[in-house]
Amino acid sequence: MHSATRSRLHRLAAAVLCGAGLLASSTANAFPWDWDMVDAEFYKAYEWAMMSLPDGAVTMNHYVRNGDRMTPQGQAIKNPLTSPTNTDIVVGQRMFSIYCQACHGVEGKGGAPVTKNDPANGIKRYPIPPPMLSGPGAITAVRSDGYIYLTIRNGGAIMPRYASQLDDSEMWAIVTYIRTLDGATFAAPPEPAENQ
Ligand code: HEC
Repeated sequence: MHSATRSRLHRLAAAVLCGAGLLASSTANAFPWDWDMVDAEFYKAYEWAMMSLPDGAVTMNHYVRNGDRMTPQGQAIKNPLTSPTNTDIVVGQRMFSIYCQACHGVEGKGGAPVTKNDPANGIKRYPIPPPMLSGPGAITAVRSDGYIYLTIRNGGAIMPRYASQLDDSEMWAIVTYIRTLDGATFAAPPEPAENQ
């Protein structure tokens, strides 16, 4: 056969095969490329029962408010790191430098540029300035571990909450680190005197 004729025949055969393939594909549901999303099964909201959570699923921190720092129960929450290691303190220090230092300053000693008020130039960035977390008059000396933990977790009056950025162990590592700073030891109120 003449070679030009042969190649024309090849092209024809290819076209016929292609056409057959296209026709077949509209009915041949076995091919994955024939599954259209438009043909998928739909469920409207509440039409189908929600699946139960798999075993061991943990609710995200963010959605759990496990206490209020204004309540005695919240303030009584104990630091689970009862004998903290150096690693806990190093983690706490690192987390503090990432999440707290910008407002509370190095070692919580204030002077952070982002929160500095400059009344002479009409700049009042923080209506309630971030308090000192260490040094003379540190607020942490009169705040329990539970109170500090819940402040980190749920935020303060204007301080942001960190429940979605830090997990529990990191929040407690921060509390542990803060307690190593000057003047940041909690001076627990004296036991109430017994009635006589
Ligand atoms: C965006 C700035 C900002 C960041 C970041 C920030 N704070 Fe604060 N913090 C504040 C301000 C402002 C206050 C005082 C007003 C309030 O309670 O909201 C405060 C208050 C506090 C208090 C005292 C609360 C009280 O009522 O006695 C503690 C303790 C504290 N912060 C710890 C932390 C720790 C620990 C971190 C890091 C996880 C942190 N803060 C990150 C701004 C910040």
